[in-house]
Amino acid sequence: MDAIQALSQIEEQREFEFTNKDFNYIQEFMLRETGISLSERKNSMVYGRLARRLRRMGLDNFRDYFDCVERDLDERVAFINALTTNKTQFFREKHHFDFLANTLVMKWKQQKKRRIRIWSAGCSTGEEPYTIASTLAACGVLTPNYDCKILATDLDTQVLEVARNGTYGIDAMKAIPDKMLRHGFIRGKGKKQELLKVKPLLQQAITFKQLNLMGSWPHKGPLDAIFCRNVMIYFEKDVQQKLIQRYWEKLGSGGILFIGHSESIGQMGSQFENLGQTMFRKP
Ligand SMILES: C[S@@+](CC[C@H](N)C(=O)[O-])C[C@H]1O[C@@H](n2cnc3c(N)ncnc32)[C@H](O)[C@@H]1O
Repeated sequence: MDAIQALSQIEEQREFEFTNKDFNYIQEFMLRETGISLSERKNSMVYGRLARRLRRMGLDNFRDYFDCVERDLDERVAFINALTTNKTQFFREKHHFDFLANTLVMKWKQQKKRRIRIWSAGCSTGEEPYTIASTLAACGVLTPNYDCKILATDLDTQVLEVARNGTYGIDAMKAIPDKMLRHGFIRGKGKKQELLKVKPLLQQAITFKQLNLMGSWPHKGPLDAIFCRNVMIYFEKDVQQKLIQRYWEKLGSGGILFIGHSESIGQMGSQFENLGQTMFRKP
């Protein structure tokens, strides 16, 4: 069977008609509203995720669904939530947190720096900001001697609920080094023994907030570190460049931008000092 036959077979099996025009509408909407670029390869994934919404709403075609998205703010949010990709884990790209502990925090301590501001931009279900907070806790920075705040934001309101809750499956433990586990997490007991709960110490250091990176940003004062990892990969090159320019403006002198392992900062590279391993310092 060739690729075209295979595609038409998939289309025949589809419960709802899903035309190129429908897909183009979604592509344009997502690009305009969120910066997310959906290539043709994502066609089946998009169909699958939105078909669930149509079923739940008792609709039988995409045109009616798009009308709802245009009219109803809640459905707009659900539509965007359905199309974000939220894969994450604790201590993902661990070298970033080794650098945070062994280089950045050490430097802050030497400088007697007390005010620390970190942004996890595109925090998904919270593993990234909790990883940052547990690293800081293990370094002794989450104490009353420091004014340390982590802002964790995402576009997707559903993942933020999980993040705020701070409860994960016990399997998540495997990725967390013992020292950070002791400082930041409690294993459930009895009926909850399959759960891992984040300690209040970490939760208190983090503010979770819904924020579209394409819109305006709330920060006051310069940031010491921005983690925007595995987020820009979903954006077009020009959107990425504008975003990195804005990160540069938000960082204080010596501030670090952490990006994902398959991302790059393109032309903005000339303005940062490249520290290697997808870490960039604002001079
Ligand atoms: C793959 S996750 C990355 C999570 C985490 N940073 C990590 O590296 O493990 C990407 C996240 O970016 C968020 N995102 C995508 N577009 C966004 C936008 N325009 N504004 C804010 N967040 C966005 C998605 O909702 C998703 O949760």
